[in-house]
Amino acid sequence: MPRLTEEHDGEREGVRRGRAKPICASRAFLHPMRTPVIVVNFKVYPEVLGRRGWDLAKACAAVADDAGASIVIAPPLADLAHVAKSVRIPVFGQHVDAMEAGARTGWLPPEALREAGAAGTLVNHSERKIPYKNIAAILPRCHALGLEVIACADDLLEAERLARLSPDFIAIEPPELIGGDVSVTSAKPEVVSGAVERIRKANPQVRVLCGAGVKTSKDVRKALELGTVGVLLASGVVKAKDPAKALRELVRGLR
Ligand code: G3P
Repeated sequence: MPRLTEEHDGEREGVRRGRAKPICASRAFLHPMRTPVIVVNFKVYPEVLGRRGWDLAKACAAVADDAGASIVIAPPLADLAHVAKSVRIPVFGQHVDAMEAGARTGWLPPEALREAGAAGTLVNHSERKIPYKNIAAILPRCHALGLEVIACADDLLEAERLARLSPDFIAIEPPELIGGDVSVTSAKPEVVSGAVERIRKANPQVRVLCGAGVKTSKDVRKALELGTVGVLLASGVVKAKDPAKALRELVRGLR
């Protein structure tokens, strides 16, 4: 697990040398994710590539600080290490590979994510599916490294199968609603509550998130009413004219 003292010493040294002080006052992300939570997946939208993604990460951290809300971000993988050094909210990978570290090119083993400063990772997102056996191989490795895992499921059957692998969270996201303007919580509330029920039966330790089309505090509130511990969303923040304002509005649904 992470070395709190060394990290704090490093931070003091960084501030002494005039480097930017990170946003947020505590290393809360070194502990299990606080719920209820809003997980913002930046994807690789043009709006978040490079510096613009760094700025969005800082805006998300500032909202988390101001509202005292649990907000987790998943920036583009190319920027994860930079973002993880700049903010004090949990930074997750958008994907991880079952590949072992070694003479292999272009893969992302869990160990690399941990070294980059990730607190956890998404896996099996609808836009980055991987075989079930790979998820089974990834999970114990992530857990041994202290990385939390949000496994994504497209439907109830997949959610139930994934629950047997004991990820920390399962995010149920009907692919056809992803990126749209109608929230899964109003278009298909039965899928959300059904996932909560089936996952609980299969493995009561696994907590449930939902996503796809989540854009407002009303959607977030409804997600919690349906039995989830939070939401996984992207376009509602990333594509918003004013992402910080959109996130502040969403956070109101956590209360
Ligand atoms: O990972 C979150 C996602 O797939 C949902 O995207 O744009 O519908 O919030 P969006």
